[in-house]
Amino acid sequence: MTSTARLIAFLALVITSAGAVPIWGQCGGIGYAGSTQCDSGLSCVKLNDWYSQCQTAPTAAPPPPPPATTTVVPPPPPATTTGTSTATATDPAASIPAGALTRITNFGTNPTNIGMYVYKPSKVNANPGLLVALHYCGGTAQAYFTGTQFRALADERGYLILYGQAPSSGNCWDVTSTATLTHDAGGDSLGIASAVRYAIANWGVNPEKVFVVGTSSGAMMTNVLAGAYPDVFKGGAIFAGVALGCLSSGPTCTNGHGPYPKLQVWHGTADNVLLYGNFQEQLKQWTNVHGISQTPTATYANTPRQNWTKTVYGTGQVEGYSGQGAGHLLPDTGTEVVAIDFFGL
Ligand SMILES: *[C@@H]1O[C@H](CO)[C@@H](O)[C@H](O)[C@H]1NC(C)=O
Repeated sequence: MTSTARLIAFLALVITSAGAVPIWGQCGGIGYAGSTQCDSGLSCVKLNDWYSQCQTAPTAAPPPPPPATTTVVPPPPPATTTGTSTATATDPAASIPAGALTRITNFGTNPTNIGMYVYKPSKVNANPGLLVALHYCGGTAQAYFTGTQFRALADERGYLILYGQAPSSGNCWDVTSTATLTHDAGGDSLGIASAVRYAIANWGVNPEKVFVVGTSSGAMMTNVLAGAYPDVFKGGAIFAGVALGCLSSGPTCTNGHGPYPKLQVWHGTADNVLLYGNFQEQLKQWTNVHGISQTPTATYANTPRQNWTKTVYGTGQVEGYSGQGAGHLLPDTGTEVVAIDFFGL
């Protein structure tokens, strides 16, 4: 082969391999600029307007249904005034009404105009932790507030919660555009990061105690935030998500920022929206990012409840929770506390 022929053959190989997306990889969605061609034998399946994925079966996945709304016991009324009112005087978050979901605006750069809501329990720790909680496609901040136990746990433990609301028409998060996948470049992720920075600057939030959780589209965004804003988030819990393209292929979304957040990955074997293969794919990705083995260092059957298996990787930088027979609607009510304990909130 002449050197020119070799070069052409090489380029053809590069173009072919760069053009085909492997299983569980992204192959489409609003703002997505990569290849839409899956490896042979795979089909590009649309999960929502913002995300299509290469899968083996060409089953058309329906949009994720909202989780069954769970009635959460309302928090106890704020304690009536006692003689000591020093807490209010020194509370930097005093401007936030306690015990209610309250919309905030003007919290910094918010290029896509995401909605943001804060929940402050009636008793807040000094220098409190902060949880960012992100809804599924079609969801709202209010639905995630009432449908999960993160708020009840905040009432017990004294951390603040920011509930985001996606600005797109289908209420899915943009987890696809170059802007959202790039540190401080724009997109929905920057609006969320801005709200966290605002909370740290104005409400006395401890920057070492900032964590993110999300379901489905919100789980994908949790992956995006953990990848693109490792300087902001110290940990994440991913309930039924997919791996993050920019971590596994080519240009990284992190720009070499410091330590990565610790991650919990939750998935049900009977998830018919984001198929179970996404579970292993995310574990592969996050163990790789942390530079630890994909082989669990510990395995616990029936944890945290029957038919769930917990696996620990490395020294606990990554945890997996596999739910035998569990579907797409995570977290299973009552398991939220496992994520909150993992974070140390
Ligand atoms: C656990 O799985 C078994 C076998 O599939 C099933 O019979 C049982 O109902 C499941 N239990 C729970 C709590 O889901």
